Amino acid sequence: MADSSNKSPCFEKVLESYLNRRAFIRSGAAAAVAAVSGCAKDGAALEGASLTKTKAEAKKSGTTPGVGSSLSFNELAHGLDKNFAVAEGYDHQVLISWGDALFADAPEFDAQRQSEASQLQQFGYNNDFIAFVPLPYGSKRSDRGLLVVNHEYTSPSMMFPGSPSAADVSLEQAQIEIAAHGLSIIEIKKQAGQWHVDKTSSYNRRITPQTPMIISGAASASSRLQTLISKDGIHTLGTYGNCAGGLTPWGTILTAEENVDAYFHGDIKHQPEAENYQRFVSRTGVKAWANYFPRWNLDKNPNELLHVGWVVEIDPYDPGSKPKKRTSLGRFKHEGCNVYINADKHVVAYSGDDQAFEYIYKFVSKNKYDEHNRQANLDLLDEGSLYVARFDASGKLHWLPLTYGQGPLTEKNGFSSQADVLIDARKAGDLVGATPMDRPEDVDVNPVNGRVYAMLTNNSRRKHDQLDAANPRAHNANGQIIEFWPEGGDHTKTEFNWDLMLLAGKPGEVATSYHADISENGWLSCPDNCAFDQLGNLWIATDGAEKSGIADGVWATEVNGPNRALTKRFLRTPIGAELCGPFFTPDDENFFVSVQHPGGGSSFDKPTTRWPDFDSAVPPRPSVLVITKQGGGRVGS
Ligand code: FEO
Ligand code: CA
Ligand code: CA
Repeated sequence: MADSSNKSPCFEKVLESYLNRRAFIRSGAAAAVAAVSGCAKDGAALEGASLTKTKAEAKKSGTTPGVGSSLSFNELAHGLDKNFAVAEGYDHQVLISWGDALFADAPEFDAQRQSEASQLQQFGYNNDFIAFVPLPYGSKRSDRGLLVVNHEYTSPSMMFPGSPSAADVSLEQAQIEIAAHGLSIIEIKKQAGQWHVDKTSSYNRRITPQTPMIISGAASASSRLQTLISKDGIHTLGTYGNCAGGLTPWGTILTAEENVDAYFHGDIKHQPEAENYQRFVSRTGVKAWANYFPRWNLDKNPNELLHVGWVVEIDPYDPGSKPKKRTSLGRFKHEGCNVYINADKHVVAYSGDDQAFEYIYKFVSKNKYDEHNRQANLDLLDEGSLYVARFDASGKLHWLPLTYGQGPLTEKNGFSSQADVLIDARKAGDLVGATPMDRPEDVDVNPVNGRVYAMLTNNSRRKHDQLDAANPRAHNANGQIIEFWPEGGDHTKTEFNWDLMLLAGKPGEVATSYHADISENGWLSCPDNCAFDQLGNLWIATDGAEKSGIADGVWATEVNGPNRALTKRFLRTPIGAELCGPFFTPDDENFFVSVQHPGGGSSFDKPTTRWPDFDSAVPPRPSVLVITKQGGGRVGS
């Protein structure tokens, strides 16, 4: 553990400045600050009392916490075992798993006899983001629609007999891996309370790293995007590293390319794009694909890594449509991307860059959304302004423009066009003075209160002398949730307010901030993805809670009023898995979740769980589940 000294802006000082502008949480925290002299290591001496509203304060506000909550489900206990578990009174159905057939003539899954051809017709690996879009387009149906699912990455040691390492797979295995990436689009229907995949649907589609795509937006056709597979910097192939994403109000899907560097080989220090690749923290040599395909070898195809790290827009209602990489949203390790229609109809898209000390971005469209003309909305994300966030200790958030020619974004610093600013978005963010965050994951807008919530998952590398008001803990293993909003609700504004909604972790072990009444099962660690129900409740999915001894899963909380930050555990993943992609149907009665990498950290040959099949011939399979309330009703009630 790093030494702390009174000279650094340690947790207590950061906390004090935070408290100075937040009277409502003053008493509990001030007492905690007073109790320690100098700097506590990692805030540990604060014993979780820090920012938590006390029971007395809750009482003073006139309402009893928990009573009258819209989240009245019986909380699930912590635990860690081979199974999936959900709160009492709820059913879970495994809707689809890795290898399940997507088409009427697709082969059934056989773990011992996998092939590229079969995988191309089957559900991919490691499902992450999920969106449900009703059929037909424009309806609010909750019993028929398309499920769009990201397949973020592959784990050869869990997929193939013999448990090969990622860097060591055969050509055939690499081809299967490639085919298991990208996305699946499937039509699903609910009949007699059960969901089914319609394998005969003409909407069903696999999108892979080989699917033809267009590079659109302000970086399209940049000479820096010319590669072995793209002479013009416009046409490209495929998407991979698809982590989270978003659904647009015009019914398209945004899929976010995140850890795309892992696919490449080559000496990044000696590439024409060396500066970009180093700033991108490119961890080459992880995967074996480049052994077989020069496309992923930077020594042979030096600019290919610039074709990924984008947000890709896909129209699930048009199975023949070409996905488009929306470069105007910037290139970084996008966790996800969520859009909000401002009152004046400009489209605002929020996205986090998931790496330690990276930034939060927003894009504001030049043109306006037209709810009566779907076609007119399809390219709204190509033109507009990109901004990056600076969180000030005063509680103000400033959106700093990433516009070529403005401020430091000029030739002097190596930018000769907006394309350069977008391709080098991280460097542009450095130059304008953005706030380095604790790994921004999902950033999403609450449909009820219009505020934006960012999941900051953790940052073990943050040191005591790197603390700031928005990232107040060193060696942050647990993450926090930050909330920000424009005064008056205009999301195109460049000045917002912000607040910390909660500091995650186990109370008593680290400095945390929750509602004082959370139960022993209510604490969480490593928030990653999120969803809102129609009441505006926040549903938080985690990735990394197992390091604290509890299974990952989903917790729910109200965001306003006396039950704010009263997180309650709703479900648990099987051992080794993270939970992602939470998504509600329009009626809030069906809750889709992704269980990613069950048995993670073990191997095909000796898995720690065989969920969900529990068949000795079948390894654990990443799966999408749907959760419903027994007897029907809103999930959470
Ligand atoms: Fe793919 Fe940020 O998790
Ligand atoms: Ca994620
Ligand atoms: Ca994750």
